[in-house]
Amino acid sequence: MDDKPRVFVTRRLPAAGLDRVRAACDAEVWDGPLPPPYEVLKEKAAGCDGLVSLLTDRIDAALLDAAPRLRVVSNYAVGFNNVDVPAATARGVRVGNTPGVLTDATADMAFCLLIAAARRVVDGHDYSRSGQWKTWEPLGHLGQDLVGRTLGVVGMGRIGYALAKRCARGWDMQVLYHDMHRNEKAETELGARQVDLDVLLRESDFISVHTDLNEKTRGLFNAERFRQMKPTAVFVNTARGPIVVERDLIEALKSGVIFGAGLDVTDPEPPSSDNPLLRLPNLIVAPHIASATVGTRDAMARICADNLLSGLSGGRMPHCVNPEAEGTGRKSP
Ligand code: GLV
Ligand code: GLV
Repeated sequence: MDDKPRVFVTRRLPAAGLDRVRAACDAEVWDGPLPPPYEVLKEKAAGCDGLVSLLTDRIDAALLDAAPRLRVVSNYAVGFNNVDVPAATARGVRVGNTPGVLTDATADMAFCLLIAAARRVVDGHDYSRSGQWKTWEPLGHLGQDLVGRTLGVVGMGRIGYALAKRCARGWDMQVLYHDMHRNEKAETELGARQVDLDVLLRESDFISVHTDLNEKTRGLFNAERFRQMKPTAVFVNTARGPIVVERDLIEALKSGVIFGAGLDVTDPEPPSSDNPLLRLPNLIVAPHIASATVGTRDAMARICADNLLSGLSGGRMPHCVNPEAEGTGRKSP
């Protein structure tokens, strides 16, 4: 046995990152098609110096306490709501994420859901496949126009900006945004206007969510918010499922309070097979695939490996969400 750091990787990742982790570490890779159950993960982490986790792995205080050697959690995602970051910081465990490289792929998915819901593409596909297509219908399958309309971005970070750019430059849309912070680049480059959420909901034709999940955004989109939207509005969520009260969205879609919606995220994931979410003609549900392109997942794997290996060697991690944990706790042996 050499003195390579011990690492548990909770799923097979692209070789672009995994090969380097395997070369530099004594790595165990979970090979199951589903995530390791929490108790198994806790047991595996117990003797490890590093952990490569997914957004489906809960990393909480109890797990961190059960793993006294653990110094780095490298999360294979930009989001990190699966990790109790304050608990990690308190124990000197650094947490990495993979921002930047999935911005375009995620903005593409948001736009894909937006246009697909506005033009009823999936509903039309089902119609063709099920043999209902008999003729060209002047009044059938009518959707919403896109050019020159108004996009409302809730959370104008990198991904929100990338979607706004597509819509403003490609489809001549006006852009409204709601965010705690001002985004001057969006204002000067895209003519975006920062507004209250009420104004955004009232004036937008398309509303897309790009905030992280926190106590302020949990349940943000509820019945009242959907009622504030136009009856022709299309709602898109590629951020995190719990930002939306799903039963309220289902009701709003059923009763025509809004026109349509596209989700890449649900709560829980996956939805149970009898969930009405999966039965609405004006709702598209993708299985959390916004970052799922070959190039993006490779780039995420590289950053994930860089974060892990730099963190384990005591160096600066390229993307650390709690740099304040550095030097406060667990040190390399
Ligand atoms: C995916 O949802 C991610 O956070 O990377
Ligand atoms: C995430 O990458 C964001 O800032 O939108």
